[in-house]
Amino acid sequence: MVTFSLSKSAPKSATVVDVPMTTEEVAALPAARKTQLSNAGFEGKVGQTLAIVADGTRTEVLVGLGAENKISTKSLRSSAAAFVRSTKKHSVLASTLLSHALPMEPTEALPAVVQGLALPLYRFDAYKTEKKGKQKRIALVASGPGLRPALSKASAIVDAVAMARDFGNEPGGSLTPDVFAKRAKKLAADPSLTTTVWTEKRIEREKLGGILAVNQGSEHPPRLLKIEYKPKGKASAKVALVGKGITFDSGGLSLKSNAGMMTMKIDMAGGAAVLATMLALPAVKSKVAVTAYVPLTDNMTGGNAQRPGDVFTARNGKTVEVLNTDAEGRLVLADALSLAAEAKPDAIIDIATLTGASTMALGKSYAALLGSSNELCGRLIEASKATSEKVWRLPLPSEYRKKLDSPVADLKNIGSDRFAGASIAGLFLENFTDGLPWAHIDLGMSALTESDKGTDVKGATGFGVRLLIELLENWE
Ligand code: BES
Ligand code: ZN
Ligand code: ZN
Repeated sequence: MVTFSLSKSAPKSATVVDVPMTTEEVAALPAARKTQLSNAGFEGKVGQTLAIVADGTRTEVLVGLGAENKISTKSLRSSAAAFVRSTKKHSVLASTLLSHALPMEPTEALPAVVQGLALPLYRFDAYKTEKKGKQKRIALVASGPGLRPALSKASAIVDAVAMARDFGNEPGGSLTPDVFAKRAKKLAADPSLTTTVWTEKRIEREKLGGILAVNQGSEHPPRLLKIEYKPKGKASAKVALVGKGITFDSGGLSLKSNAGMMTMKIDMAGGAAVLATMLALPAVKSKVAVTAYVPLTDNMTGGNAQRPGDVFTARNGKTVEVLNTDAEGRLVLADALSLAAEAKPDAIIDIATLTGASTMALGKSYAALLGSSNELCGRLIEASKATSEKVWRLPLPSEYRKKLDSPVADLKNIGSDRFAGASIAGLFLENFTDGLPWAHIDLGMSALTESDKGTDVKGATGFGVRLLIELLENWE
């Protein structure tokens, strides 16, 4: 994708360099120049760029920073993304954005600038015979203390996002539960990470009834992936992460439509986000002990597939009547949340492409946030402000709990009407959290994008990776 270096001035080899300008700086230009730029569509606003060939060898790109007093990590990320998107043919770039982050120290601006410069360059070309994604080199022009460690942290974070996107973009037929788990084990090579993979036999012995129920219709055996991160020194807290790992969701016998199934290789995006987060924790030197659980299976229609009306027993002993086999995410999460709760962590956070209803409520640029702990939800909202991955809290109304009552089992897996689908799914999950502080991120369609925009590239977004890393890096 891109390799970064730090330098005091733009290296000679750079064929393109940015010239960041606030709206005030543009306004202060001589009238004729201002008119010229304005006719070319450049006023210094965030997102605006204008390429100027300076001396025949080097291109200068004017990059809008917006109003000086409105510069933020969010605006810098957008300015950086706009710059890098304008440099298509160039492979050696220099960026002076860190030196122009006027109200901010270069180290403070660095994560957002690195994300803005790197993430738009992400390409998934594993199946392209012609690899178009060119490797770029970007020199960050800045000086001051702490830049080198800040850059290595920021690089680990963009690598984690790229990993999550790679998993999300990989076809369901090739990223089977076994392949997911093997790739995870290989990636989690850092000595502070310990990976355990449960195969089908162990999953049976451990009574993970939800994973087995969903897996009944599949040719591929399930896996339960567990990764533990131990910080150096005493851990300041113990947090569990749980990610939905449905490697393909056909809906099962409650089959999806053609259109509904088209994107369902993305249904492991929560699991990929959790894995990616774990891989970055050693680099950001999180002080929190974190254990991740990713239940892995596809949801298929084989001859032994679970039937609407079937009942299974989840890991925590609760019985569930499955009336819609397409509400499968909550079944595998039921087991993984139960396992997570057994270790009595200080907080449990799950992340999942759980419902279309969350997107009906909030649209694609938000993930829904639900949870039993206001404190934990508050932490996630703060982290989300820092990374610009937008979350919006939805309620868990106790008066809706009875909608999950089943005449034959402890619970049914869908509500009794069409309303508040994201909240109903959340209320279902709450039964498996043993009353511990818990938050649930329902990605809905925020896991995917249709267009290249900002830091996003068509396909998997890697939503939630930066959010979870931010949360765990700065947990107090
Ligand atoms: N994986 C889907 C949810 C989904 C749909 C995520 C589209 C991202 C984009 C999930 O397993 C599902 O099918 N949920 C059902 C639940 C319903 C049957 C209660 C849904 O949302 O329709
Ligand atoms: Zn489904
Ligand atoms: Zn699903």
